[in-house]
Amino acid sequence: MEIATFLPKEYTEKIDNGTVTWKSPSNIALIKYWGKKEAQIPQNPSISFTLDACATTTKLSYHKKATKAAQFSFELFFEGKQKDDFKPKINTFLQRIEPYLPFLKDYHFTIETSNSFPHSSGIASSASGMSALALCLMSLEKELNPSMTDEHFNQKASFLARLGSGSASRSIEGDLIVWGTHEDTVGSSDLFGIKYPYKVHEVFKNYHDTILLVDKGEKQVSSTVGHNLMHNHPFAAQRFAQAHENLTKMQSVLADGDLKEFIAIVESEALTLHAMMMTSMPYFILMKPNTLEIINRIWQFRQESGTNVCFTLDAGANVHVLYPENEKDKVYPFIQSELIKFCQNGHHICDRIGFGAKKA
Ligand code: DP6
Repeated sequence: MEIATFLPKEYTEKIDNGTVTWKSPSNIALIKYWGKKEAQIPQNPSISFTLDACATTTKLSYHKKATKAAQFSFELFFEGKQKDDFKPKINTFLQRIEPYLPFLKDYHFTIETSNSFPHSSGIASSASGMSALALCLMSLEKELNPSMTDEHFNQKASFLARLGSGSASRSIEGDLIVWGTHEDTVGSSDLFGIKYPYKVHEVFKNYHDTILLVDKGEKQVSSTVGHNLMHNHPFAAQRFAQAHENLTKMQSVLADGDLKEFIAIVESEALTLHAMMMTSMPYFILMKPNTLEIINRIWQFRQESGTNVCFTLDAGANVHVLYPENEKDKVYPFIQSELIKFCQNGHHICDRIGFGAKKA
């Protein structure tokens, strides 16, 4: 699919003002995106579970100006308070998406946003936040062009969200999303996320993700810096090839419900992500001692209990504990008695696989 698909045609309607609200979830990658080219094009394909509980709700109010402005005009409220330090990020996002939404300078926007998870929980809000804002702007575009199909709406929302944050492209729909061109995945694209198009075994329905908040501090290294360190990384080419292979292997795993192989791929992907950080120049470590403690306890419990609990990591110290619905009565008590003590103030979030963003 060509970028030109997302350039708008003539709008048929005139809209002076209005309000729209979207609640958009976070997502957790099973096969990781780490490394990108210009314009948020990923170096390899990724696949994620869409989450349910961790979400951003964004209300966008828009008022048409008398004449088109030279600059973007918007105010930003985060959890009820004006948040000027978020403005540069939003401004960059608006600049990147303006070619695709040429009406942006025609309006004054009020953006009111809040997260379901606590601020400074160490949970990245860029995926849910950028996707929620992209969806709000798409709702305005749909008012200007009511003949837009739902398919185009979702595809373009993902395309725009990607320009805000790569992983945000995977937060529009659910429950499994692929982003990045992959030769064995029909319809896959570097430009937007798609719903995983093949058979998925029952065992992956209602999968749980209990997020253990090991470290709620600011990350030492932002994702953007980390992605850039994949340029000239000594293991980059091999890593990108591995992600393609893992996504191909994942297809039979998902179809057959092969949890042993699922665990092997998912945990290897998490550790490879962190291995890339540890072997970049400059190198860095985002795991904390408690991250390793949790991983070791999961491995031990898995062996003793015969359950299929496993972990994945994002670009931080927090651990996502994944397990199927039919094992929750064994796994959750284990998490409570053995793992919560390694979280900051016992803080954790019980999440599960979700089905995408919703308009309020
Ligand atoms: C480790 O999407 O946060 O979570 O595109 O620079 O905004 P930007 O990066 P971001 O990177 C996420 C990386 C990851 C893996 C993943 O979600 O696939």
